[in-house]
Amino acid sequence: MPEPSPSEQPPRARATPILALRGVEKVFYAAELEIHALVDVHLEIARGEFVSIAGPSGSGKTTLLSILGLLDTPTRGVYELAGRPVTQLSTRERARTRAREIGFIFQSFNLIDELDVFENVELPLVYAGVAARERRRRVQGALDRVEMTHRARHRPSQLSGGQQQRVAVARAIVGEPTIILADEPTGNLDSVNGELVMGLLRELHRGGATICMVTHDPRYARYAARTIGLFDGRVVRESGARDSSNPDGDGADRGEEAA
Ligand SMILES: Nc1ncnc2c1ncn2[C@@H]1O[C@H](COP(=O)(O)OP(=O)(O)OP(=O)(O)O)[C@@H](O)[C@H]1O
Ligand SMILES: [Mg+2]
Repeated sequence: MPEPSPSEQPPRARATPILALRGVEKVFYAAELEIHALVDVHLEIARGEFVSIAGPSGSGKTTLLSILGLLDTPTRGVYELAGRPVTQLSTRERARTRAREIGFIFQSFNLIDELDVFENVELPLVYAGVAARERRRRVQGALDRVEMTHRARHRPSQLSGGQQQRVAVARAIVGEPTIILADEPTGNLDSVNGELVMGLLRELHRGGATICMVTHDPRYARYAARTIGLFDGRVVRESGARDSSNPDGDGADRGEEAA
């Protein structure tokens, strides 16, 4: 995209964030308890940004990602996707957006054991209406990228945790989504496979994808240009620049990273 010349650019012009939360609250009601999983969250993520989310267990990371991924809805507040409040999306548009634009890597993988590895990875393409031949080509490509081609006809329960995680990653990237939401994508992986998955995410980021990743691992948080810290459902700290043009990050101000 050509840069507009300074004279064309209105003062303090900024592109519409791809993801924006404005005053978002999430309340769960369980066993007579009101659980405030997210409290007054304001967040903007620019198109093409690589953001990491950190925070202790129960601080709301998965809840936040689920809302961003259209898998859950805020109790209060507004979520705007590409400038449009998601409450304006019809059920059909919501499903389409999820199938075509968003790749979600679940903390618990969420693979379907009635389907084999190939079919699990293929599923988002079925939802997106991709033709069978093209599906086969893309699934093979995605399995290849996570080095799981040899287990294509196995059931998820026949795989190790790390292998399931790699299949879940393949499923998230197979549709070439513009937004990738990853909940501890390296949580079950040894360092070799962790690097493999992070290398993939980085490649997708370089290709223009917006990435939002929960991680406790400072080695991997460094891949993100910005870290958002959550505590008790609130954003408590942000570090790193808003500019994600340096995918290597500098990691300089994240030394204190607890979690
Ligand atoms: N479906 C639900 N019903 C009731 N409470 C919920 C539900 N989902 C999450 N919670 C609660 O909301 C809070 C935030 O949970 P969340 O899963 O977002 O935390 P997290 O930061 O992802 O934690 P972890 O690091 O352990 O994965 C927790 O107190 C949790 O018990
Ligand atoms: Mg979680």
